[in-house]
Amino acid sequence: MKIDLCFTPFELDELELRDKNVIVIDVLRSSTTIAVALSNGAREIIPVESIENAVKISGSLFGDVTLRGGERNGKTIQGFNLGNSPLEYNEATVKGKSIIFCTTNGSVAMYKSRFAKNLAVGSFVNLARTVDFMKEISVDFVILCAGRANSFSNFSLEDAVCAGMMVQKLVQDKSLSVELTDSSLAAQALFKTYGRSIVKMLKNSEHGKYLGEIGFAGDLAICSAVDSVPVLPTLTGNVIKLRKEEARSNENEPLPPTKLSA
Ligand code: MLT
Repeated sequence: MKIDLCFTPFELDELELRDKNVIVIDVLRSSTTIAVALSNGAREIIPVESIENAVKISGSLFGDVTLRGGERNGKTIQGFNLGNSPLEYNEATVKGKSIIFCTTNGSVAMYKSRFAKNLAVGSFVNLARTVDFMKEISVDFVILCAGRANSFSNFSLEDAVCAGMMVQKLVQDKSLSVELTDSSLAAQALFKTYGRSIVKMLKNSEHGKYLGEIGFAGDLAICSAVDSVPVLPTLTGNVIKLRKEEARSNENEPLPPTKLSA
């Protein structure tokens, strides 16, 4: 299993990800928000790359089961139902809804990955579920960090540290044969440096500081809570849903007899 890694998606051509196995990470906050929304019963998340597309698509879906969620500069987009704080995506608000999702970096990276063979959305809150998925599929993966479009380097420390934690978990599993590239090795080193306190790393990151300045300091604790939302959002076509077995348990459908007897 070879693990490659892109620290930012901006130079990436979407066709380079065709038929690849991709994990998209946007810790602050899109990946976290998507895991929380689906865990709270949202039917699906449709990532779009522009506000115009969000308005166009949501106009053609049924109004009462469709919400627009997303941010620009961390704040709710005018005319949208929701911003991008995980706190907004509670069960009362999102259960059963289709959410058209448009954010600065996260949804763009997910949209760019829509030609992938397998795509999962990873973060600290569903880290073990993401690593288990990688072990289950057990093929070469590309970890795609969403990065930060409106910054000089586009580099996101929190995304890279999260990717590095995934790499570390895979490397530690002696039953696996894991090959790293320079970028995944670098991410692992960043995790070893900053992984002792995830919330402290978030508070010291550029975007973490900015979110604190605009009133979203509470989101940092949520986004740093490792394995607090153990679900796996996966992209099929251009729609993100929970994997089938999770959707069944999430919707409280009866498990198939073989599972009940376990
Ligand atoms: C992103 O796309 O990077 C995030 O949505 C930004 C944010 O939530 O503030």
